[in-house]
Amino acid sequence: MRLVIASNNLRKRREIEAILGTPRINIVPAEQTRFIEVVEDGDTFAANAEKKARAFAGANGLPALADDSGLMVEALGGAPGVYSSRYAGETASDADNNDKLIREMQGVKNRKASFVCALCLIIPGENEAITAEGHVDGLILEVPDGVAGFGYDPLFYCPELGKSFARATAEEKASVSHRGRALRNMVENLGKL
Ligand code: IMP
Repeated sequence: MRLVIASNNLRKRREIEAILGTPRINIVPAEQTRFIEVVEDGDTFAANAEKKARAFAGANGLPALADDSGLMVEALGGAPGVYSSRYAGETASDADNNDKLIREMQGVKNRKASFVCALCLIIPGENEAITAEGHVDGLILEVPDGVAGFGYDPLFYCPELGKSFARATAEEKASVSHRGRALRNMVENLGKL
């Protein structure tokens, strides 16, 4: 199956390609993909993933896979959630978002959080979306630890790995991450079709 990835987040793309790139799934390189700006105004990760997948499938005339993901912090009532990429403002960098999270969590005892990933695959000509989800539980650190990965990885301590995501190798992160789990669920769902 030829597939476009409906994301212009390079680091997210790389994680998806590393897990999904099998001989049966031929990912169209970014430079051959028609990119479009999609306003992510859905209330849920699933709604945003479907919106992105439908837009990219339409623009490219090929099956399109979208990932909408984010961090949900228990003590912040699930924030930043669907606003994860723009927690500190529309043009916020990862560093800005991490700084805001550190401030909001200052003195907070409950450090529980989860990364959540919703995937949606749209195949042109087929109305039904194929979806999958994954999540990983962890704890928000008081200070960043590590430099690997992206987004909130330096502040996310993963008990399953015994380290922050930003200290994990790409393989270690993929083995337990929300995105790794969602992608493996997606492959399983595709196999059932
Ligand atoms: P999206 O591109 O709208 O799905 O935004 C996802 C945002 O959630 C990213 O910009 C990050 O801030 C955060 N995020 C999602 N997945 C990860 C991850 O694997 N590590 C760290 N941050 C992530």
